[in-house]
Amino acid sequence: MKIAISGKGGVGKTTIMGLLARQTQQSGRQVLVIDADPSPHMAQALGVENISDITPIADMKKMLAERAGKVEGSPFYNINPRVDDLPAQFMLEKDGIRLMVLGAIQTAEGGCACPENTVLKRLLTKLLLNPGQTVLLDMEAGVEHLGRGTIAGVDGLLIVVIPTRSSVRTGLKIQKLARESRIPRIFFVGNLVADQDDELFLADGLGEKPLVCFPDSSRIRKAERADQPITEADEAMDRVALQLLAALVDRIAQK
Ligand SMILES: Nc1ncnc2c1ncn2[C@@H]1O[C@H](COP(=O)(O)OP(=O)(O)OP(=O)(O)O)[C@@H](O)[C@H]1O
Ligand SMILES: [Mg+2]
Repeated sequence: MKIAISGKGGVGKTTIMGLLARQTQQSGRQVLVIDADPSPHMAQALGVENISDITPIADMKKMLAERAGKVEGSPFYNINPRVDDLPAQFMLEKDGIRLMVLGAIQTAEGGCACPENTVLKRLLTKLLLNPGQTVLLDMEAGVEHLGRGTIAGVDGLLIVVIPTRSSVRTGLKIQKLARESRIPRIFFVGNLVADQDDELFLADGLGEKPLVCFPDSSRIRKAERADQPITEADEAMDRVALQLLAALVDRIAQK
């Protein structure tokens, strides 16, 4: 399965994707995490030490331009650039989790049709998969990527919401756009949910209960401050991540 994550800035997207990645790997599935945020943080969350060894694919301009090069004898660019040999070159592995960093995709107003972008999009849609594999896409905040096709071909979108009015408003806006983009499954995930009041606030504002709710975790905060991996910092968070994985496998298998 291939899952993307969205939500207002700072609500916990990278944290939740990191936790989900670890649980997915521990449950015996192959997992590839793609950091598609132009300012990537997933390597830190997962505790990848050699962060500087990762080259964002979007920075490989020459390679992308070559892949997307003009078709010989034709004024057109290659719309089916070869991408199947790319992943291995650009992946880093940490404790069984593979990580790829996309970097900033240059976009002109209204979405960019530049040939390099074609290579990146094709890479994202082609990165699948045998049934045992899971691709998790960490995204930048907001809604722009929904109009950009970066998440084309995902089986599900997680929208992270925290119990505040503005987060719920953004969550609903993302849900609407995601529906319009025909994303087959859209789920809300609560974060920083402290008590039943918070749960009720979210269910009421969203019109449905989030698939799971993560608590507020001082251990996660401390791990992040100490530049330590957030996975396995807090058992309670790991348990919710495992529930999330089970719910996703269940819902997506039902399709
Ligand atoms: N449940 C939680 N308990 C405590 N701290 C949390 C929790 N979830 C996230 N955080 C902290 O909140 C901060 C923001 O989290 P994170 O980076 O995951 O958000 P994000 O949505 O990915 O942000 P951005 O929009 O910048 O990509 C981090 O410092 C993280 O450690
Ligand atoms: Mg993030």
